[in-house]
Amino acid sequence: MKLVLSLALLAASAFAQNAAIGYPPQGLSVSPGSSLTVQVERPNSLTGSEEVAVVIGIQSCPGTPCISPADYMGRILYNGPFNPQYHENYNPPYENFTVQIPSSTASGTALLGVAHVTLVGAGFSPWLETLNRTITIS
Ligand SMILES: *[C@@H]1O[C@H](CO)[C@@H](O)[C@H](O)[C@H]1NC(C)=O
Ligand SMILES: *[C@@H]1O[C@H](CO)[C@@H](O)[C@H](O)[C@H]1NC(C)=O
Repeated sequence: MKLVLSLALLAASAFAQNAAIGYPPQGLSVSPGSSLTVQVERPNSLTGSEEVAVVIGIQSCPGTPCISPADYMGRILYNGPFNPQYHENYNPPYENFTVQIPSSTASGTALLGVAHVTLVGAGFSPWLETLNRTITIS
């Protein structure tokens, strides 16, 4: 039992860094109402894994600390399948999502949150991670 648990933890930590936000860069300025590419990278994993979904949300947090997307995704901009593919050979597999920044988003700091659900390991255990990227609304 203990062994099974530590193997599961090991598997979870081995996959812990698996997705990353490739775009936008930290602090990118975007205007309210404009469309923005959110690139979610998924470096190739060792064992079989199966993608489930990605959720992209935005929260406006000018002058206040942003809340972790693990607790608060804010306005949902995308919620659907994730199908990362190789494009350029110098990049890991990724998918670009084009989302629209709500026109009511306040100026200042905003946080993009990405929730990534995947099935990992030989037993395809469900696994969730959250990522974030700070942008500036101007
Ligand atoms: C955003 O992600 C970084 C690590 O990638 C983390 O250190 C930071 O706490 C996160 N920010 C929020 C508001 O969750
Ligand atoms: C994905 O978006 C990035 C950033 O805008 C862009 O450089 C890249 O060419 C796009 N890739 C594809 C396949 O559209």
